[in-house]
Amino acid sequence: MHRVTLIPGDGIGPEVSAAACRILNATGVKLDWEEVEAEPVTDRRGDRLLHAGWLDSIRRTRVALKGPMATPVAEGHRSLNVALRQALELYANLRPVRNLPGLKTRFDGVDVVIVRENTEDLYAGLEHTVVPGVVEGLKIVTERASTRIARFAFQYARANHRRTVCAIHKANIMKLSDGLFLNCVRRVAGEFPEINYQELIVDNACMQLVMKPEQFDLLLLQNLYGDIVSDLCAGLVGGLGVVPAANLGSEHAVFEAVHGTAPDIAGKNVANPTALALSGAMLLDHLGEAAAAQAVRQAIHALYREGRHLTSDVGGSASTTEFTDAVVAAVEAAASRRQVGA
Ligand code: NAI
Repeated sequence: MHRVTLIPGDGIGPEVSAAACRILNATGVKLDWEEVEAEPVTDRRGDRLLHAGWLDSIRRTRVALKGPMATPVAEGHRSLNVALRQALELYANLRPVRNLPGLKTRFDGVDVVIVRENTEDLYAGLEHTVVPGVVEGLKIVTERASTRIARFAFQYARANHRRTVCAIHKANIMKLSDGLFLNCVRRVAGEFPEINYQELIVDNACMQLVMKPEQFDLLLLQNLYGDIVSDLCAGLVGGLGVVPAANLGSEHAVFEAVHGTAPDIAGKNVANPTALALSGAMLLDHLGEAAAAQAVRQAIHALYREGRHLTSDVGGSASTTEFTDAVVAAVEAAASRRQVGA
């Protein structure tokens, strides 16, 4: 039995997390979901805070499946998503971006892994008004975090047969901050002579990604560039509805999709649960349940290959529930075939 914290999240979060849980449960792996309280906790000013109970739960279970959480724009509280990553030192954000079989997009052969530094950079949340009309936001880059994420990227490349790590930066302009990041990556690259190492300036990288994405293998980025380039890459393979992710630290792991709360479609039973279900497959791998993880991927891939029961963001007309029912049925059928074979 594996205990797993479940944070349903906001917007489409409860719909896609319920779908992902059903799909993971269908594998037959015994998962004991510890669902955390959803009621917002606020401070005296009414700003939303991270639930202490969420942190306690993840510290206990060490692993969580999480839906997206909303953050007000240009006002209000800090991102709870960022706060959670920082509080648990989930320093590596891992986002594998691949074409799904049968899902026609403008590009074939996209198979790129994004490794994003998850704890600092402009997401440190240090902003202040110097004088009215002048605001300063601090970009924090440390040798420790840059070296740690670089080592994660190269170790991931080595373990997963990735041949080339490409560091993305803007060190021509931010010579000290991005320069420090780049120098740390270069030092780590020297420890992995079997892995090719390249560098690209972020603007050029974006152009190359939308011209010829198949040339990229593993991208290593700081927090802000990683956030932006992740959505860009999702767009290459069918959109935010299909790209999974993991936030990994040395003690804890939180699996969530790349997408946000999608307020435009929340509550309509049309959201695509593929991204969170594939994040769930990454969670199963993390728990050592590789066969179950593979069963989830295969069931999802089969539906995409056949083009049946897909949601509208990927060209179908099925509801969240219809897609989930079809994946659950395929996963259960595979699980009973495994039992018969055993
Ligand atoms: P978003 O990712 O929520 O939505 C962007 C577009 O993609 C929308 O058109 C939406 O309908 C579509 N989309 C996203 N996920 C989908 C799915 N599973 N199925 C079908 N269509 C999907 O980005 P947006 O609108 O910029 O942000 C909304 C809120 O989410 C904001 O409050 C933002 O701060 C938050 N957010 C939270 C994240 C997290 O919890 N890790 C990540 C990104 C944004």
